[in-house]
Amino acid sequence: MTPPSESTAGVTTFADYVRGRRAAVDEALGRLLPSPPACPPLIAEAMRYTVFAGGKRLRPLLTLAAADSVTPGGMANDGEVLPAACAVELIHTYSLVHDDLPAMDNDTLRRGQPTAHVVYGEAVAILAGDALLTEAFRVLARGSESDPASLRARRLRTLEYIAAAAGPEGMVGGQVMDVSSTGTTSAVFDTERLRATHERKTGALIRAAAVAGALMGGSSHPVADAVDRYATHLGLAFQIVDDILDIEGVQEDLGKTAGKDADAGKPTYPAMFGLEESRHLAARSIADAKAELRTAGIGGRLFEIADWVLSRTR
Ligand code: IPE
Ligand code: IPE
Ligand code: MG
Ligand code: MG
Ligand code: MG
Repeated sequence: MTPPSESTAGVTTFADYVRGRRAAVDEALGRLLPSPPACPPLIAEAMRYTVFAGGKRLRPLLTLAAADSVTPGGMANDGEVLPAACAVELIHTYSLVHDDLPAMDNDTLRRGQPTAHVVYGEAVAILAGDALLTEAFRVLARGSESDPASLRARRLRTLEYIAAAAGPEGMVGGQVMDVSSTGTTSAVFDTERLRATHERKTGALIRAAAVAGALMGGSSHPVADAVDRYATHLGLAFQIVDDILDIEGVQEDLGKTAGKDADAGKPTYPAMFGLEESRHLAARSIADAKAELRTAGIGGRLFEIADWVLSRTR
């Protein structure tokens, strides 16, 4: 998805903001990922393969934008926030590597490249996913002796929030609901269950990305809660749009195989509600997300990120 080139939120256009923040994330990821001789060359290569294959970096951008939004002056302390942004992207990338495995969605194309299991084989792809997940928590936990107690406390709360979002109560739980419902007809798969699946498998990590930014940016509880509510609506909209793009998207833009959900018999929003109603529901979730920001008096780039999620084509 190409971010909109126009912005009304400040002197820097949204496109420039995204470019700059993405570059910071990519530089930090390159620095934080392990290299030989600390680890075997094969696992280092397999981890970097999908991380640098060309993702949108939506989640780390959300972390940074949330932190920027709650920081007086509008620019968060990158040294404190970037590790959390990178950790979320590492966990997201692990989830993609495992989601594409033959035992799950059995996909051969991801981020415009052959999937990790196609290139490295299933065993190494599974291990690369494991390694990305564990390294994410190492990145989150890392600090220095001189860190003040308040920073350590924020880091620990963020770590706990991200762990809960990634695990059985969040993304992993949602993936279990997804795989165990595949092939289920809409008659037995009700709309509440579909919404709950989407909120867990995709929404939980998107929430964690935004909340991590608010927490590491030092926001008050009410502001972090408002960011959480914003991201809950955003996460649902994101997965509804993902379902729509699986039908309407162009494979070259998506960087992944289109048309897989219907073939696999996945319960999706278009399968349950039809395309037009799905578009309407995604737009309503985005409107709800922005309303949460307005009510809490939160400004900054989170509004433009919400518009981007709705209008994206990849
Ligand atoms: C794809 O996420 C997986 C879902 C949760 C739907 P993205 O569309 O953010 O994938 P990348 O990171 O840009 O590759
Ligand atoms: C994936 O949902 C969610 C996670 C990876 C946790 P999908 O299976 O719809 O994602 P894509 O379409 O393969 O990217
Ligand atoms: Mg899947
Ligand atoms: Mg998939
Ligand atoms: Mg999908």
